[in-house]
Amino acid sequence: MFTQLNKKLTLSSSFKTAPNIGLIKYWGKWNEREIIPLNTNIGVTLNPNDIFTTTTLTLNPESNNNQLLINGKDFPISNRIERLFGIFREQILQSKSFSSNKYKNSPSDKSLGQLIPDIEKYGIKVESNNSFPTGSGLASSSSGLSALALCLQDILKTDIDVRYLSRIGSGSACRCLYGNFVLFPGVQLQNLDKSDQQTINLESKRCLPYEIESSRWLKEKVSIVILTDTHQGQKDVLSKDGMKLTWETSKLIQGRVREYVEQHIKELQSALEKQDFNKVMEIIIRDSNQFHATCMDTYPPLLYLNDFSRQIIKMVHIYNKNAKNIVGYTFDAGAHAVLLIHNDELVSFKKFLSEAQNLFTKSKYIIPSQEFWTSIGDGPINLN
Ligand code: DP6
Repeated sequence: MFTQLNKKLTLSSSFKTAPNIGLIKYWGKWNEREIIPLNTNIGVTLNPNDIFTTTTLTLNPESNNNQLLINGKDFPISNRIERLFGIFREQILQSKSFSSNKYKNSPSDKSLGQLIPDIEKYGIKVESNNSFPTGSGLASSSSGLSALALCLQDILKTDIDVRYLSRIGSGSACRCLYGNFVLFPGVQLQNLDKSDQQTINLESKRCLPYEIESSRWLKEKVSIVILTDTHQGQKDVLSKDGMKLTWETSKLIQGRVREYVEQHIKELQSALEKQDFNKVMEIIIRDSNQFHATCMDTYPPLLYLNDFSRQIIKMVHIYNKNAKNIVGYTFDAGAHAVLLIHNDELVSFKKFLSEAQNLFTKSKYIIPSQEFWTSIGDGPINLN
């Protein structure tokens, strides 16, 4: 959007994105600055009509202060967001010298840099609203940062890769740019030279996400429910710190990344191609459990799962014993469960879920504390 305010331009852009939940978990970085993951990972994008972040970015000619509002509250601007803003301003400044580079939104013949030559005088305001709990392990940063990257790119209208902008905001964020299952490649070889800038640039170009097209059949078959533990507030250890600590202290993570993650990726891709629903669910369950085993092996351990999560796990395995189509579950860096349910099982699973409380009568938890029903989504929605 492009409006004139006191002879200065106001530019804004809005996107709606849904979180992408890790199914083959990303945990560890080969390069911290460029957010290049150590392991290839796969996530599923939720439906932005049910569960979403809406983000609006506005260039404010009235003040040069940057501002980040999440659900109406002021939040500190992280180094990563500062970096994104820096790239944004740089791109605008660079376009100053391109006299014939007409800015696509502009009625005049000027480039964006010529339209706003004094970009340093503009503040960047980001307003983000989540329809679900923020910062509690439900991938709110993935949807928020992908929406921010889309807004930045939408205003810039340059060739800068939105997958890259998203990734340097947060690794899992770049998976939100696509619908269905999304694969985010990790670094190719563990012993690549970490200090060689050319290698870093090459890996940075290669480690960009794409949609796994063979996962599209699942959309019609599966419903997703997020069961949140309302006893849990903000998570104790942020993913970025948790993964660092795991790599510094866990021996299990080495084996996971060297051997098992690749196996899970291959098995999942093959099960998707064969449209083998139960196998897909089994791999998702196994990968979540293995990821949390490495969290437990971290020193001191990362206890993302709690009694609530363990009860859900128990409950799903009880259900799966007799189910024709097994229910899948996965847990990110938090206690909340994400369950994937075949639509043919929906009625009986819902009945089981409401009766499940009787199985856990001694527990202080009531299952579920809060339910968010959704499905597999198609990716971001442009609100401009
Ligand atoms: C457990 O993407 O939040 O959700 O790249 O440091 O921002 P940064 O980490 P982040 O980590 C997500 C970890 C996870 C697993 C996953 O989504 O695959």
